[in-house]
Formats: sequence, structure tokens, C-alpha cells
Amino acid sequence: MDDDKTKEGLGSISRREFTIGSVAILGATSAAGQTAKPITPLQVKPGTPASTAPAKINTPPVSAAAKTIRITVNTWKYEIQVEPEWVLRDVLREQLGLLSIKDMCNGYGACGSCTVIMDGRPILSCMTLAIECDGGTIETAEGVAATNPQLIEAYVMNHCMQCGYCTPGFVVTAKALLDRKQKPEEQDIREALGGNICRCGTYPQHLIAIREATGQP
Ligand code: FES
Ligand code: FES
Repeated sequence: MDDDKTKEGLGSISRREFTIGSVAILGATSAAGQTAKPITPLQVKPGTPASTAPAKINTPPVSAAAKTIRITVNTWKYEIQVEPEWVLRDVLREQLGLLSIKDMCNGYGACGSCTVIMDGRPILSCMTLAIECDGGTIETAEGVAATNPQLIEAYVMNHCMQCGYCTPGFVVTAKALLDRKQKPEEQDIREALGGNICRCGTYPQHLIAIREATGQP
């Protein structure tokens, strides 16, 4: 089939092109209005090739109290120096440039927009010290876009986002649910997404999209 080019009203843009563009926008949303830090290469040892290479790598100066952690993020392996008080959200966003990770509640653990998957479980990266993540395997929305494009496509085509700020957190939480339950019931989805807040009120669309992504009516 012709990738539904005109059927979905997207003009000459295919569903997949539209999806990829939307994911890029999700990642870029939070960059607006922030002062860019100098980017320096380094300290990072790339491991297995991945389809979601980080957009940038930044290594701010650290004190003598800093420790080196080894983490795998979206299949890439890193060695990063972190201060004891740094939270995972800031390391992933500011050092690895993974801008899908958001902060809708000033890091109070109340919104779910900073959710990432670590060792198979969704966690709030704003409430997790980076230094505790040594040895961890982490997946962000950028990784989900590469490994589960049908979920992203279902999100886009069902209009799960308005401003889009909360969406990566929802996507990551949904991916964690699908990793443990391939065909979740509506109640499973409601419970899994219970910690994710959307100020635009897109909640009903997530139920539709996740079921659609798993081939359920
Ligand atoms: S930024 Fe709101 S829960 Fe982490
Ligand atoms: S789409 Fe705007 S906060 Fe959820």
C-alpha cells in the first residue's frame, strides 16, 4: 500500500515521515528558551551502534566529589562523571542531549514528564540520583521511537498531543507497559498512566492509541 499518503490528509507527506518529524518536534520542544551550554566531545565511549545517536554530548566541569558511572542509554554505552547530587534527568538532558525528557513539575515527582525506563521499569528521572544508576540500562522516548515506531505512529495519528510537552513521558510509560503486557486492557493502561499528567487533557486519546498500537479495537 502507498503508506496512506493522501488518505490521512497529509498531502505529499507519508505517515512515517510525519511520525518521524513529530518525534523530532517532541525532542526539540524543551530546548526553546534555554541557554545552550558549550558542547565538548568526550568522556563518552560509544558502544553498540544505535539508530538513535544522542544529538550532543556535553561535559560540564566537575568537582573532586564526582564519580564515574557507566550507563547504557538507548543501546549506547557511556562513562560519565557526575556529581553526587545530580539527578538522572539533568544528566540525560544536558550531557547527552536527550531533550524528550521534560520537567513539568519542577522536579517534584508529580507529573511523569521526566519518565524513562531503567532496567525494565519506568522511573521518574527527576527523583533519581544519577550516581545510583551505575550499571543501569536506560531507554528514553528517543529509543522508543527507534524500537517501537508503531506506538509513536499510533500516538501521532490519534492526536495524543496538543502542546506535546507531556507526551514523551506518556510514550515511555506506555512502552514499559507493553514490555510486560503485549495486549493491555483499558484498566491496565489507566493504571500504568496514572502518574502521568497532561495539562492539555489528552487522556482519552492515549487509551485509543495504545490499544491501536497493539492491534486491539
Ligand atoms: S519532572 Fe515532574 S515527575 Fe519528574
Ligand atoms: S499535550 Fe500538553 S501537557 Fe499534555
